[in-house]
Amino acid sequence: LFAGQTEFLKGVVAMSGLPPADRAEVCFAGRSNVGKSSLINALTGRRGLARASNTPGRTQEVNFFTAGDIYLVDLPGYGFANAPVKVVQTWQRLMKDYLSGRSTLRRAFLLIDARHGAKAVDEEIMALLDRSAVTFQAVMTKIDKPRGDDLRRALDVTRAALARHPAAFPEIVLTSSETGQGIDTLRGLIATLE
Ligand code: GTP
Ligand code: MG
Repeated sequence: LFAGQTEFLKGVVAMSGLPPADRAEVCFAGRSNVGKSSLINALTGRRGLARASNTPGRTQEVNFFTAGDIYLVDLPGYGFANAPVKVVQTWQRLMKDYLSGRSTLRRAFLLIDARHGAKAVDEEIMALLDRSAVTFQAVMTKIDKPRGDDLRRALDVTRAALARHPAAFPEIVLTSSETGQGIDTLRGLIATLE
């Protein structure tokens, strides 16, 4: 899947700029710096395809990538960002409008840091997805990072949050863009949504 046929299509700054809703798409949402862009690079096997960085607020547009017959969509993060408040509010609005108003969105992957688990801001997005009837699935990122009991605790907190949201898909995918853990599993899941 995806091999040799992944490319950047466009970065969108307003709903009017979205490409035609003519094929299935999945998107990657989550707090700033959680690893959305890195996950797209890992899934496509192309390191520099989506711009990743250690600076929260790196992705500032809704970025479309074509992968076979599906669009992968990299979203700006929510929560803290290294950018002026007004600018951040503009991307947040766009990100939320996209999540609630895209007819061809098959599933939103909601990325959650494996060290921390779901936070209140994640639950706000989960509630928005419930209201919009968009099925979402939690993906733990940076699974190479937690030590000791951190992962178990983060999973407990995340499962409890998912149980409060009817649009949640129950299964959590554990991934690392660094070691490649879980990437094949996630790729397989996306393939079933095409
Ligand atoms: P914004 O676009 O700012 O919202 O961030 P993002 O969610 O796209 O995160 P990005 O992919 O830019 O990654 C943020 C930082 O986390 C970068 O320094 C990545 O190298 C690092 N990172 C991402 N995924 C992993 C992972 O699986 N393991 C480890 N150890 N680091 C990761
Ligand atoms: Mg990003």
